[in-house]
Amino acid sequence: MQRIAAVAAVALAFGVAAAAQAAPSLRIGLVMPVTGPFADYGKQIERGIRLWLTAHGDTVAGRKVELVLRDDAPGTSGEVSKRIAQELIVNDKVDVLAGFGLTPEALAVAPLATQAKVPMVVMNAATSIITERSPYIVRTSFTLPQDSAPIAAWAAKNGVRRVYTLVADYGPGHDAEAQFGKTFTAAGGTIVGEVRVPVGTVDFSAYLQRVKDARPDAVFLFLPPGAGTIAFMKDFANRGLAKAGIRIVATGDLTDEDVIDAYGDSVLGVITAFHYSEAHDSPENRAYVAAYYKAYPKSRPNFMSVAGYDGMHLIAAAVEKTGGSADAQKFIDAARGMSWTSPRGTVTIDPATRDIVQTVYIRRAQKVDGRMQNVEFDRYPDVKDPGKP
Ligand code: PHB
Repeated sequence: MQRIAAVAAVALAFGVAAAAQAAPSLRIGLVMPVTGPFADYGKQIERGIRLWLTAHGDTVAGRKVELVLRDDAPGTSGEVSKRIAQELIVNDKVDVLAGFGLTPEALAVAPLATQAKVPMVVMNAATSIITERSPYIVRTSFTLPQDSAPIAAWAAKNGVRRVYTLVADYGPGHDAEAQFGKTFTAAGGTIVGEVRVPVGTVDFSAYLQRVKDARPDAVFLFLPPGAGTIAFMKDFANRGLAKAGIRIVATGDLTDEDVIDAYGDSVLGVITAFHYSEAHDSPENRAYVAAYYKAYPKSRPNFMSVAGYDGMHLIAAAVEKTGGSADAQKFIDAARGMSWTSPRGTVTIDPATRDIVQTVYIRRAQKVDGRMQNVEFDRYPDVKDPGKP
């Protein structure tokens, strides 16, 4: 009996010592919708994160990465996101907050990142102001002004003179409308009408009749991709706008690989500006797309998945650089100025704004091997967010 007790005591002591030596896991709390109308946003971000971990291993500076995913569907209620982030910080003791598919989620959680001193990595939400809401935020996706300025410049250079803008009535829509108008009018174009529609609008016929009556050369639009963009494309065709010679110009949110197949041939020839396309031709992207289809054969790689992949890269690189610490100030200082080769091309974290600097491509929707793709044909290199003061 005594001997057994002694052996047990020794084993326990060793166990405790081993546990004390093993570095604690690196807990990443993911706040994003994985159900509801924007379920694909969270799913795509998660796929990107997991692809990175599969490709590069799940240990960072000796710490095993642990993902703690919390669904804050639909992603448009800041209150829900805030409560969930609070639980992740207090109960789950996460080291990093990440995800954020939609702007209201990121805006609601930003003050918590500041108070709790937790780094926050934004992997989609794209309103310019978000990174200014906490010194501990860094973004690996994009901003609406970053992609709206190039499409405005391209349109003005390519015979588009009169544009009607239609945007979702919240942060990214307001940003897109403002930046498109600014760049387009500076280049000599005219905005002949502007309309903002509620998030969740799925009937555009009345708005599109007004657009048609104004006889613009093109409509510029931003809607969060999903049921809304699918309804827009259907109503655009049914109301005869294409037949009336009105074109569509947009940021690539419209022709996101997640929704582009739902448009059918109505999307053929639509020109967009964006920082990621499945069809981007580089060795890194070919490897990314192959790994994606191997793991998720029923979905298509898109910009949200790549921002998740790059976001995981940034977390790993920052924590390696600090020697294993996720202290918010150290983490952010490590992230500033960081540069790497993403599947989308070379990206850099602007040391001043903590936003991403990247090439924006001009693309045309066309079929490639029987599949609708955004084929890049022009580029604006090293675009910083022009929405920052
Ligand atoms: C956003 O809510 O910030 C948002 C959502 C979808 C996008 C881009 C931005 O495609």
